[in-house]
Amino acid sequence: MNAMTQDGYVTADGRQIGPVVMELKNITLRFGGVVAIKDISFDIRQGEIRAIIGPNGAGKSSMLNVISGFYHPQDGQVIFKGQPRPAMKPYQVARLGIARTFQNIALFDGMSVLDNIMTGRLNKMKAGFLSQAIWWGAAEREENENRAAVERIIDFLEIQNIRKTPVGRLPYGLKKRVELARALAAEPNLLLLDEPMAGMNVEEKEDMSRFILSVNDEFGTTICLIEHDMGVVMDLSDRVVVMDYGKKIGDGTPAEVRSNQAVIDAYLGVAHD
Ligand SMILES: Nc1ncnc2c1ncn2[C@@H]1O[C@H](COP(=O)(O)OP(=O)(O)O)[C@@H](O)[C@H]1O
Ligand SMILES: [Mg+2]
Repeated sequence: MNAMTQDGYVTADGRQIGPVVMELKNITLRFGGVVAIKDISFDIRQGEIRAIIGPNGAGKSSMLNVISGFYHPQDGQVIFKGQPRPAMKPYQVARLGIARTFQNIALFDGMSVLDNIMTGRLNKMKAGFLSQAIWWGAAEREENENRAAVERIIDFLEIQNIRKTPVGRLPYGLKKRVELARALAAEPNLLLLDEPMAGMNVEEKEDMSRFILSVNDEFGTTICLIEHDMGVVMDLSDRVVVMDYGKKIGDGTPAEVRSNQAVIDAYLGVAHD
C-alpha cells in the first residue's frame, strides 16, 4: 500500500481508493453484562473492500450491526460522510445507500428469486398506493424501471436460469447469491456482507469471491465484509480489521495482519469449526 492520505491511497494492484466514508470512533457495545465490542476505532474508505475477521464470538456481526445502524453503541461515535450518525430506523439507513446481507440467510422461501430481489427495490419505490390509483403513468414507469434494474442484476450475477424458482428450493450457495442480488437491487454505495462465504464449498466460494470483486470493480461499491476464515479474505480485501473477544487486535493490509503476532496467537489459540 502506498502512503495513505486524506484523499485516499493506491492499492498494490493499482486501484485508487478514496477518502474515508465511515469512521467508527471508540465504539463500545454491551448486551447486559456482555461487552460485545470494546473501544474499537477504524475507518472505511470509498471504493475499498474492507474485511472484519476474527474467531467466532469476537463481535464481528455486532460490529456490522453498528455499521448498518441496526445497533446504536452505548459509547463512541459513528461518523458517516462527515456527519455523526444518530440512531436510525432500517429504512432511514437504506436511504443513506447502505445495504446488507445476513449471516443467516434472510429471504422469503416461498417467493421466487425474482420477487425476492424486487423486495430490495423497496427503498426506490416512490409511488405509493394513492399515486398508483390516481396517476397510473408514474407508478407504471417506476415499476418498469425497477424490473429493468432487477433484470440487470440477475444477468450480472448469472442467475437467469433460476429467476422463477422459489428460493426455498435452491441450494445454499445460490441462496447466498440471491441475497447478494437483493442487496444490490438497492443500488448501495456501501454494501455490508456478513460471512458471505460461510458454509460454502470451494467452488461456491470462488464464485462468490469473483462476484464480490466484480461488484466493487464495476459499480465502484464500497464493501465491508465479515469472515472468520482468514484465508478467504486475504485475496479479496484491501484492508483488514481483526477482532478477538470484542477488541481490535490488528488493522492493516492482508500482509500486515498476517504477520501480526497478536493475530497469529488469536488464531492459533482458537479451535475453528
Ligand atoms: N443480541 C444479542 N444479545 C446478547 N448477546 C449478544 C447479542 N448479539 C451478540 N451477542 C454476544 O456478543 C458477542 C459477540 O457476538 P457476535 O457479534 O455475534 O460475534 P461474531 O459475529 O464475531 O461471531 C457474543 O458473546 C454474543 O453472544
Ligand atoms: Mg457473526
